[in-house]
Amino acid sequence: MNENTNTIIMNCDEKGAISKAAVILRKGGLVAFPTETVYGLGADALNPEASNKIYAAKGRPSDNPLIVHIADTYAVYKLASHVPKKAVMLMEAFWPGPLTIILPKKDIVPSETTGGLDTVAIRMPSHPAALDMIRQSELYIAAPSANISGRPSPTTADHVISDMEGRVDMILDGGAVGIGIESTIVDMTGDVPVILRPGFITKAMLENIVGAVTVDKGLTDNIPNIKPKAPGMKYTHYAPKGKLTIVEISDDTGAFSYITRLSVAKKINDLISEKKQQGFKTAVIASSKNAHLYNCENILIAGEAENGETIAAKLYGVLRECDDIGADYIYSEAFNHGKLGDAIMNRLLKAAGQRVIKV
Ligand code: TXA
Ligand code: MG
Repeated sequence: MNENTNTIIMNCDEKGAISKAAVILRKGGLVAFPTETVYGLGADALNPEASNKIYAAKGRPSDNPLIVHIADTYAVYKLASHVPKKAVMLMEAFWPGPLTIILPKKDIVPSETTGGLDTVAIRMPSHPAALDMIRQSELYIAAPSANISGRPSPTTADHVISDMEGRVDMILDGGAVGIGIESTIVDMTGDVPVILRPGFITKAMLENIVGAVTVDKGLTDNIPNIKPKAPGMKYTHYAPKGKLTIVEISDDTGAFSYITRLSVAKKINDLISEKKQQGFKTAVIASSKNAHLYNCENILIAGEAENGETIAAKLYGVLRECDDIGADYIYSEAFNHGKLGDAIMNRLLKAAGQRVIKV
């Protein structure tokens, strides 16, 4: 474990910060850095000892593979034994950006990095500091999200500092990230691409480039005995310490109507008053428009329901706030509308252990 490491914290724009990070990575050290999705915890992907340090720092199960981050397309051919045409089309359309592609791996990629799998996950992030760091290191950078395993992914440097200070060699502070939820993962090893994790790049956006795309059946946790194909998706994740429940309307047609919003709020207010009477601390996760409808000491605003991008950007921060407050019971509205609805609800449902009350 890297428990007693003296962590260097520098702003990305500070002179010499990126080159210092590159030197640490070349020596097999750990650097947390911003990407456009969430902060990553980087190490040399081809160095098994460096990869092992990532698992130790996060407390991550060793069968959960890491994404390898690259800064130029050519790197894909160094890491993957076969790059199908459809993969090239997706790379061209969405890289650099929040898309991870699974391909069969070459022998140079150690099994420590791929959690023992014979495939490798590859992504080219678009954050300029991430690209600069990868280029200066002249390495491929294995990087999971920079949180302690099981906690929400970090979307600010403060989140990273609270989880990783003392466990990693350096933290690059790039402020709040842009997107806020992790990249879309697509398995490109079969004829038809399969989404293993929904994200900012939606099924429709992928299909627009390569035609039919399917979604991994294991993603919907209500199908018993089918495991998700991305090993990380099977773990309880993103979860706040308190018990989170989603309250949603059963008839979705008038989701934004006043009546609908009122009936969700009434249910949540009833649940809160019950828990308060029992002496528990409560919190509500609400969209900005609905905040005034709640009777709760902790109303956490996740963004605007009609604009999924604002919810994605804030969701993990809000889940962390629930822990800071010490909330025992948390009730959240559903945010299942618009282009990012699937990706947001995938995270929120996991955080809630799939607990949903319909009104
Ligand atoms: O946006 C992101 O992807 C962020 C930033 C830092 O790039 N990274 C990230 O990494 O979310 P992580 O480790 O938190 O999630 C990676 C997911 C896990 O669910 C893992 O099981 C899956 O990708 N994965 C990695 N390699 C895989 C492979 N070869 N086959 C299937 N799933 C894989
Ligand atoms: Mg993660």
